[in-house]
Amino acid sequence: MTMTTSRATGASVQRADGYAKVTGAATYSTEWPLQNPAYAWPVLSTVARGAVRAVDDSAALAVPGVLAVLRPGAAPELQPADDPEMLILQHSRVDYRGQVVAAVVATSLEVARYASSLVRVDYTVEPHEVLIDPDSDELFTPTTAVGNPPASDKGDVDAALLAAPHVLDATYTTPPQHTSSMEPYACTAVWDGERELTLYNSDQGPAITAGTISALFGLPAGAVRIVADYIGGGFGAKAFVRSVPVLAAMAAKAVDRPVKVMATRQQMFSLAGHRGPTVQRVRLAADPSGRLVAIDHQAISHTSRHADFVEAAAAVSRSLYATPNLRTGHRAVRLDVPTPGPMRAPGIAPGLFALESAMDELAHQLGIDPVELRVRNDTDVDPSTGRPFSSRGLVECLREGAERFGWAGRDPAPRSGRQGDWLVGTGMAVSTFPVHMAPSTATALATVDGGFEVRVTAVDIGTGARTVLAQVAADELGVELDQVTLRVAHSDYGMAPFAGGSAGTASWGWAVVKAVRALRERLDQHGGVVPAEGLEVTVDTTADLAELSAYSRHSYGAQFAEVRVHVHTGELRVPRLYGVFAAGRILNPRTARSQLLGGMIFGLSMALHEDGVLDPVFGDFANHDFAGYHIAANADVADLRAHWIEEHDDELNPVGVKGIGELSNTGTAAAIANAVFHATGHRVRDLPITLERLR
Ligand code: MOS
Repeated sequence: MTMTTSRATGASVQRADGYAKVTGAATYSTEWPLQNPAYAWPVLSTVARGAVRAVDDSAALAVPGVLAVLRPGAAPELQPADDPEMLILQHSRVDYRGQVVAAVVATSLEVARYASSLVRVDYTVEPHEVLIDPDSDELFTPTTAVGNPPASDKGDVDAALLAAPHVLDATYTTPPQHTSSMEPYACTAVWDGERELTLYNSDQGPAITAGTISALFGLPAGAVRIVADYIGGGFGAKAFVRSVPVLAAMAAKAVDRPVKVMATRQQMFSLAGHRGPTVQRVRLAADPSGRLVAIDHQAISHTSRHADFVEAAAAVSRSLYATPNLRTGHRAVRLDVPTPGPMRAPGIAPGLFALESAMDELAHQLGIDPVELRVRNDTDVDPSTGRPFSSRGLVECLREGAERFGWAGRDPAPRSGRQGDWLVGTGMAVSTFPVHMAPSTATALATVDGGFEVRVTAVDIGTGARTVLAQVAADELGVELDQVTLRVAHSDYGMAPFAGGSAGTASWGWAVVKAVRALRERLDQHGGVVPAEGLEVTVDTTADLAELSAYSRHSYGAQFAEVRVHVHTGELRVPRLYGVFAAGRILNPRTARSQLLGGMIFGLSMALHEDGVLDPVFGDFANHDFAGYHIAANADVADLRAHWIEEHDDELNPVGVKGIGELSNTGTAAAIANAVFHATGHRVRDLPITLERLR
């Protein structure tokens, strides 16, 4: 594969949108200046299971400024869809607490919010259940676990577990977690007549949303335009359409004027998809030298009454370590909860917490250094498919991480490090994430004044995508960065995958390279002179991706943590957290480091704080704000470092990248839990690692 040559790529270029963002010039979804906007405020169900029996909106409608109250039976009709999370106000069924059961539309946000408190909803209430019982006979095997087959089985795992001299058998749990992006859901809907709709939406995938919304409203393809210029984070929750953009479009249709919807932080805990909780049993069988002879990883999670989204926690064990016998499986139970959704490294983040904790337990049991145990179980071929890896920098990451951290000479004995009243320990774990890529379109234009423009329905959710795609285009054109205008985030630039699965740069970048190469060819046909009307080429990478060679493609990393646990109070600090990653080519060290560090903080937050508590009495997330649902703050982040190794992989894409959005929040929680064991001698198998779990 011919890769772009490096000039702008590889340089620490500042974010193209940095200035606009920090000065407030960037226009977010509900900041567009519009004539006469109205505001919709959802009314959320206060029961976890049942049906809406009656809605009394008379008091709400009496408030000056209220334009309409939408409710089942009095709301614009939607076309059927696979995902019931989108089909709001179409029926009276209540499947979870916090579901949209009505909405007030008013001339101001304040009036809409106030009047929503006056809407009286009567329910038929049914008994609910929100907690996983791992022994429940209602557990079922889903058809997929986030696109992965639900189960895999190679060799004879049971025989290997019986025969092996060393077996580690442990169960780990992770709680529900919430994506908590800085900007909650936000959308402005503007109809142009009855057949044209523009949504300014905080959205990870404008091209896909445009298709979803047009189908929902029975409109032809192309009738819906999504604009997502600036997004305050997404972490997976804005990858798929849920209620907010649908409500905005319905409300705008109902009152015949533009409507804005802005979810509150509290509403996000039920309106957005959460990461489902997991119960994971991991069994590892090893010979005395530490070589794995069997891995069995079985995961349980929950999903909602009306849709399947099952956290794929066991899938990560399919491709990481060499073993002749390998079995994985996922099961789920339907509960009265909002449908879970993707959250940064879905499946892999909780899955690696279990697998990499188990590897640490095995290392301890065998008296083998934890880094060495990983190296001994390295493999050149994917253990589940037999396919070679396109590149595998795992051992290099382990070695370089150990070196940078100062791992050598570590006393492996738990509780061997004490400084005054602090127990000090170190731990490590592996990071990994699959390489995903999807077809994309892109358009390249040359203008007669010597400028170039590239259009692709990419989205910069804070990652730096806008910046690195311009770098890629400039290099491919052989021009300076400032000669290229890169336009993103408008669905009318064509079909493109969402900013998710760490696939953005690879997928959009591939289309950008292809478009620019095609433009250069056209330019050559014109003798290198741009004609007066300019040149424009649009490409699509569907055929290119179909020809992808049969390699197993993954990114890797190794994270090393130092923790201190106060001997009397149990206070836990992480003074050092180092990561070394291997993810193909790094296009922009500045934005890449930022992403990698952000992921590590995300993982640290998972380890220490994040805990969605389902309340069996009310059937709700009991902690649905940042007072109760804690995420890492500045004080949690001390000496945090992200490095990477040079990795050249010709079997990826013309940009040479693997994706870095999710890699670095995998493995972090295990590295910290393993350090906690080293510090205290206490093995915490249930996240988060809170004080009471250290006693
Ligand atoms: Mo991300 S969880 O792949 O949007």
